[in-house]
Amino acid sequence: MKDQDKPDSTHFGFKEVAWAEKQKKVAEVFSSVANKYDVMNDVMSFGIHRLWKRHTISVSKVKPGQKVLDLAGGTGDLAMKFAELVGKNGLVVLADINPDMLNEGRKRLEDKGHIGQIKYSQVNAESLPFPDNYFDCITIAFGLRNVTDKDQALREMCRVLKPGGQALILEFSHPVLAIKPLYDVYSFHILPKMGKLIAQDEDSYRYLAESIRKHPDQDSLKNMMKQAGFDEVDYSNLSGGIVALHRGIKW
Ligand SMILES: C[S@@+](CC[C@H](N)C(=O)[O-])C[C@H]1O[C@@H](n2cnc3c(N)ncnc32)[C@H](O)[C@@H]1O
Repeated sequence: MKDQDKPDSTHFGFKEVAWAEKQKKVAEVFSSVANKYDVMNDVMSFGIHRLWKRHTISVSKVKPGQKVLDLAGGTGDLAMKFAELVGKNGLVVLADINPDMLNEGRKRLEDKGHIGQIKYSQVNAESLPFPDNYFDCITIAFGLRNVTDKDQALREMCRVLKPGGQALILEFSHPVLAIKPLYDVYSFHILPKMGKLIAQDEDSYRYLAESIRKHPDQDSLKNMMKQAGFDEVDYSNLSGGIVALHRGIKW
C-alpha cells in the first residue's frame, strides 16, 4: 500500500491505534515474551501447537535441496524441521522482524546442532529482501495476525514464491459455534492469567486473545490470498477452526 493510501489507524487487539504505531506495539509484545515464548506455547495449547505444526510440515511436502522461508518464524519450530528435510544442499531462512525472537530461535537451533543449513534474517513480512520466484515453500505460523499490512505481506509472499511452490499460513481462526463459548472463557479469562503467572505478562496474552478475534475469518483470508495473486487457494480447519491452515499455490 502506498503511504498516502494507508488508513490513519488500525487495530491492536481491541484497541484502535495509529497505523504507524502498531508495529512498535507488536514488537513490545514479542520482546517481552521472547524468553518464555516456547514454554507458554506448550502450556497454553496443552502441547497441541506441536500437532498443528507437524501437520503443516507434512502438507508442505518439502524435499531435499529445496529452499524454504519460515516467515515470522520466531523461535524456529518449523525452521528446525525444514532444516532436516532440505538437507545440506537446501536452504532454510528463519525470518522475523523481532531481534529478540530471532535470537531465541538462533540459540535454540544452534544448540540442536543446526549450524550452516539455516540462515537468519531480520525482516518485515511487508517488504521481503529476496528475489522474485525464489522459494519452493513459504510458511508463516501464527505471524500474519500481527502484521499491520496483511495484504502487502501476502503479495510479498506470492512474489518470492517459485511457480509451482506453495505458501502455508497457519493461524488462529474462527472456531465453529459449538465450542465458541468455552473458547471465549478460556481465552479472555484463563489465558491472560496464565501469561501473568508464567511470563509475568498478562497484557501480551490479552493481546493474543483479542488479536485472534480481529483476524480475518477463514473465507476472508482465502479471498485476500487470491487478491494477492495466488492462483489456487484452499484451507482446512484444525481443532474445530481454532486454527486454520491456508494453502496458496502460484502457477
Ligand atoms: C506468535 S509468534 C510465532 C512464532 C513461530 N512462527 C511459531 O509458530 O512459534 C509471531 C511472530 O511474528 C513476528 N512478527 C510480527 N510482525 C511481523 C512482521 N511484520 N514481519 C515479520 N515478523 C513479524 C513476531 O516477531 C513473532 O516472532
